[in-house]
Amino acid sequence: MRRRQFLQMSAVVSAQLAITACSGNNEKAAGKAPVKGPSNSLAYVARGGGRSFGTAVNSGMLFTGGPGKQAVLHECATVTPEWVFKWDWLARNGKRYDFRESDRIANFARANGKRIRGHTLLWHLGLPKWAAEELAQQRKWDLVEAHFDAVMGRYSDLVDQWDVVNEPINIGTRNDGLRENQFLAAFGPDYIEWALRAAHGRAPKSRNFINEFNLEYNTPDEGRRRLALLKLVERLLAKGVPLHGVGLQAHLDLRKGKIWQDGVHGLLRDLSAMGLEVAITELDVRENDIRQPTLKRDMMVADEVKRYLETVLAFSAVKSVTTWGLSDRDSWLTYQPGGHPSNRGLPYDRDWQDKPMRGAILGVLAQA
Ligand code: XIL
Repeated sequence: MRRRQFLQMSAVVSAQLAITACSGNNEKAAGKAPVKGPSNSLAYVARGGGRSFGTAVNSGMLFTGGPGKQAVLHECATVTPEWVFKWDWLARNGKRYDFRESDRIANFARANGKRIRGHTLLWHLGLPKWAAEELAQQRKWDLVEAHFDAVMGRYSDLVDQWDVVNEPINIGTRNDGLRENQFLAAFGPDYIEWALRAAHGRAPKSRNFINEFNLEYNTPDEGRRRLALLKLVERLLAKGVPLHGVGLQAHLDLRKGKIWQDGVHGLLRDLSAMGLEVAITELDVRENDIRQPTLKRDMMVADEVKRYLETVLAFSAVKSVTTWGLSDRDSWLTYQPGGHPSNRGLPYDRDWQDKPMRGAILGVLAQA
């Protein structure tokens, strides 16, 4: 217990020192680790509890000479490519894949001993136009398998977890709660099973995930989404489909109030009971009122993160926590419709000062 308290206190202080100490605009300087054996990092504290910590990354964060690279090296054991593993990035203009950006991130991971979350193989918003057209016209499953062939083998040394299907749930049209996406239109609801089997055949040592969002609040829609996800997972497991985990994106949203701990607890209890691993895959917080004083805003964000992580990390099924970026500078919430450019929903601010959210993550990881 003493060690935990010490870790919590010292980590907040020293993380800030570590990041600011190397925040020069010099790529060479930024390539040096701030401390040997980063005992004050989120990854280190997570590892103490048998978990891993990571973040979403993009080339701007890593390769433009700013402190982002150093921060990722310091804080993370895993990285999730924010964009460049998606189908529409890899094969934007046709069947010729362009791996330059994804290879850059893979080489960064290889060179620095980081693991990659493979995000994502099938996503309705990550499909290139040409593939969407071909799927609609020809309905050939071969097209999906060719995509898996192109991506999976190339990074098999780095990827322990693939988000095989991203965001398959949508309430409103079908009784089973499945999203009527391009894959469902072409192949019917079995596309999920086929995708999981195809992924497993190509990467038998990796763990297959379904990754989903909007599962945290006490609203009728989110209640139905939790149920639809559980039913989907149950059907797949009953058929012996190789599904190993569920990713909970955890884009928290203060406009919706506080997360519903009972609902989240129930979801985790049921997923755990099915023997699945759970990954928190895209944690961040959308703010409600940006006119409040900065410290108050930061405390509200941190409190919500604490509440969420305390609920989910009570379960040993949760083996990893990933934030959707480290600094507000890189957050997708600053450029989303309905988001705000000054949103402060990540562990570091735009100037790489750590915020109470980092302390909250660290504190819960240390206790869990
Ligand atoms: C987002 C990226 O952050 C944006 O930059 C991009 O424009 C769209 O995709 N759920 C997911 C992620 O699974 O892949 C999304 O990432 C955010 C929502």
